[in-house]
Amino acid sequence: MAEADATSSSPKDFRPEVPQRCETFFLKGSNELDWGMKNRLSRIFDPASGRTVMLAVDHGYFQGPTTGLERVDLDIVPLLPWADTLMCTRGILRTSIPPTYRGGIVLRASGGPSILARDLSHEEIALSMEEAVRLDAAAVAVQVFIGGEGERKSVHNMTRLVDEGNRVGIATLAVTAVGRELTRDARYMRLATRICAELGATYVKTYYVEDGFDTVAAACPVPLVIAGGKKLPEADALRMAHRAVQDGAAGVDMGRNIFQSEDPVAMIQAVRRVVHDGTSPEEAHELFRDLARPGAPAGVR
Ligand code: R5P
Repeated sequence: MAEADATSSSPKDFRPEVPQRCETFFLKGSNELDWGMKNRLSRIFDPASGRTVMLAVDHGYFQGPTTGLERVDLDIVPLLPWADTLMCTRGILRTSIPPTYRGGIVLRASGGPSILARDLSHEEIALSMEEAVRLDAAAVAVQVFIGGEGERKSVHNMTRLVDEGNRVGIATLAVTAVGRELTRDARYMRLATRICAELGATYVKTYYVEDGFDTVAAACPVPLVIAGGKKLPEADALRMAHRAVQDGAAGVDMGRNIFQSEDPVAMIQAVRRVVHDGTSPEEAHELFRDLARPGAPAGVR
């Protein structure tokens, strides 16, 4: 029956002279991934710019209700129209994020020690892949403590999630966590990010370092995003985001520098300009100040 319409009078149009398209996927190191994984990565990274503004609000998994995250429903949900991706815990996702959100979800998948613990590096896997599938996560995020007390366990947490994620097409974000005793320099970041990529992370989150970040990005064969870190003045945070993407980062996974800003709605829009349009930090800061004016319109995406 497959050719049941063979007698139909309208001719078929196979265009044999036109070769089938064979497109390269837009993210570095990701071309050989399966369709489902690529589709999920396209919910995290914007295919038009190849970059992402991930809004990180998962801090509660070890810090509880930190400043700016006391009421996710009231203070974070209004930022969602400008977030390519939301990084959060399953608890916050289920209770506070509207299921109509269309961006990618990156679910926190490791945890254990709280801010009160002597050492934060002894994490366990804290989410099953079945739950990640049920919640339609685009990726799971796991802390990796290279050089920390819990180094070995955290690396194994990551590789287990990579194996389970690859089975179902969910990406794994390795979050390089730098212990207080370690130096946050390019040498350390090259080591930590490269280990994560070598062991299978789909993409890696790291910190920006002033000196040599381009070598960190070049040495990492999968996309890198940078964490924002502690709250900085808005102009400085925009400068850091700008330098990071110019030096090869595929975007930011920013939390406190957005949700602790004096105007988070204005700040996330300014960050978007820097990340997606390559706008200068000075111009983006002007936009921030404009949008932050009392009575200014909320802006358009
Ligand atoms: C911290 O461990 C969390 O994973 C955060 O998502 C991460 O640190 C990014 O947030 P921030 O920009 O506030 O550093």
